[in-house]
Amino acid sequence: MATIIDGKLVSAKVRQEVAQQTAVLKERGVTPGLAVIIVGDDPASRVYVNNKKKACADVGFYSEEYAMPADTTMDQLLEVIDMLNERPDIDGILCQLPLPKHLDEKVVIDRIDSTKDVDAFSPVNVGKIMIGDYDFLPCTPAGVMELLAHYGISAEGKRCVVIGRSNIVGKPMGMLLLHQNGTVTICHSRTKELAEICRSADILVAAVGRANFVTADMVKDGAVVIDVGMNRLNGKLCGDVQFDTVSQKASYITPVPGGVGPMTIGMLMKNTLKAAKLHHGIED
Ligand code: GUN
Repeated sequence: MATIIDGKLVSAKVRQEVAQQTAVLKERGVTPGLAVIIVGDDPASRVYVNNKKKACADVGFYSEEYAMPADTTMDQLLEVIDMLNERPDIDGILCQLPLPKHLDEKVVIDRIDSTKDVDAFSPVNVGKIMIGDYDFLPCTPAGVMELLAHYGISAEGKRCVVIGRSNIVGKPMGMLLLHQNGTVTICHSRTKELAEICRSADILVAAVGRANFVTADMVKDGAVVIDVGMNRLNGKLCGDVQFDTVSQKASYITPVPGGVGPMTIGMLMKNTLKAAKLHHGIED
């Protein structure tokens, strides 16, 4: 039976460290500020945004929410972003995705000042990650790396397989494992012999978006299995990995819920703290 990686515990530790550092910044007159923009009334987005605001309050940040109607125009949204880009009290700007279909996410993300892009989604920050010289990391892959580090797991020299090639998770995840000297394969919907490739993995990261996609026959004995999936199956939250069977073969495994999920907000807090330090010329 695998060791279950406790994302709640590690996330609490990250947030506690952020809170401690925030208290020190506040003594110097600096309060990190995060602005969260939500357009429309997607219920999942509403829950995420509420959680982000609560996390800000818990670590001592200032936060603001811009709840805009579903028929908001590009001009209206870009006007808010431009205003927030100029505000010295706002260190991080996060536009909750997905946006309503008539809005161009690429243009919106690119409009956020790259020093305030605490999601690390903008082309500038993505490029910086690619060359290994970055200020911010996208919250989900950064959360995975934090979990691995907490459990003393390094990708150095290991075979790492990432299933999924999204800009937000799969691609940056592969890059972070590569930066740690892992030998990385990124698989996707057109990959041939997927099961065989997965079976070669010492570290297997599933970011597919399909419930119970990874089965025990796809996992090597003793592999570290990280489940980034957040799927609803019969109303219940479940991951991309068939937990009951895979946990019998893996050495470490993340549960869903309680694995990678709780880490993402912790990493957002870390990025916002970093942005505040950058804006005020404070060494990390
Ligand atoms: N929607 C789902 N996850 C995220 C995230 O990490 N950032 C933003 N901006 N939107 C999301």
